[in-house]
Amino acid sequence: MDAVRIFDTTLRDGEQSPGFSMNTEEKIRLARQLAALNVDVIEAGFPIASRGDLEAVRKVAQEVRNVPIAALARARKEDVGAAIEALKPAAAPRLHIFLATSDLHLRVKLKMTREQALEAIGSMIRYGRQHVGEVEFSAEDAGRTDIDFLCQVCRVAVDAGATVLNLPDTVGYAVPEEYAAMFTRVREHLGDAQGITLSAHCHDDLGMAVANSLAAIRAGVRQIECTINGIGERAGNASLEEVVVALAVRKDSFGVTTGIRLEELFPTSRMLTEITGAQVAPNKAIVGANAFAHEAGIHQDGIIKNPLTYEIIMPQTVGVPARSLVLGKHSGRNALRLTLRDLGYEASDTELAEVYSRVTALADQAKQVRPRDILAIAHEVIRRRSTAMAAESSPAA
Ligand code: KIV
Ligand code: ZN
Repeated sequence: MDAVRIFDTTLRDGEQSPGFSMNTEEKIRLARQLAALNVDVIEAGFPIASRGDLEAVRKVAQEVRNVPIAALARARKEDVGAAIEALKPAAAPRLHIFLATSDLHLRVKLKMTREQALEAIGSMIRYGRQHVGEVEFSAEDAGRTDIDFLCQVCRVAVDAGATVLNLPDTVGYAVPEEYAAMFTRVREHLGDAQGITLSAHCHDDLGMAVANSLAAIRAGVRQIECTINGIGERAGNASLEEVVVALAVRKDSFGVTTGIRLEELFPTSRMLTEITGAQVAPNKAIVGANAFAHEAGIHQDGIIKNPLTYEIIMPQTVGVPARSLVLGKHSGRNALRLTLRDLGYEASDTELAEVYSRVTALADQAKQVRPRDILAIAHEVIRRRSTAMAAESSPAA
């Protein structure tokens, strides 16, 4: 089966968004965990951004030897120079050069003509290749770039020595069919370009980053750039955990594999949350607190009978220690009986009915019933039975 490489940019695109900045120690800690997760590339930072970022990339490259380390640079000599310097200690360095290629960005932001852009791309890739064996080129805002010009850009990048071509949907504007069609056109244009990997990099402004990444795979893309918990500029990047679990669960549909150790997904997500202090939404796929929690009675009943009724992934598969049956106003008696058992109470049907009615009454007022509330109710109801039994068997009775 074809392998899709996972390029993690949590430490670069993720880190550059508000509330997610990390110091060098934190970056090293997370990079080690990304290595344990078995990502294929770690993008460690943007060295020209600050001396601290350059040092962080260098330290990550020193410490994490078993995963290729990438550093980002604009197509400018000073940027490329900084990235080359930062990557010196890397066992397998990757220089990642980018330049915006849409007319809007060229005109408004860069004040460059298309010809100047082609010149900068070619010369900076050639310069980079003199120092680093592997160069990736990204056509920023590729999703809104004229397709014929984009094909020209890709040809220049390949001829100059880039071996990975990343075509980002920088502003999260693409829809899946359109994004896939862009890659199909570029592939046709490049012909049989041996040794060239096409890469997708999607932002989530319209909530389609993961869908667009998956559509790109169907169009022959073999590297996906993504981040843990989907953090990144504005609405974020494609979420790594969602992409890789979708590929694993729907292997029948995509027919590709990744090398990701799925059981490390939840610990990695947790580590990022701990480092940045930014919680993931409870309903976030794969790693959210509710991803394996069931409150509705019908669902709880199904899960108790067979988890496949309402779960398409086992929690343990992605490193979540256990599913939870949450007791609330929608919960059923089966789940309550199990919870009571876990708490050490074996309830008769009458007791269960009483505990159930008191728990649901409480749940009507509170948003959720905590285990200690259930414990208190169960203790009272079931203790009453023991007291009554004791009274019945006493000689004075
Ligand atoms: O979103 C984007 O276009 C990027 C590039 C710099 C790769 O992050
Ligand atoms: Zn990006």
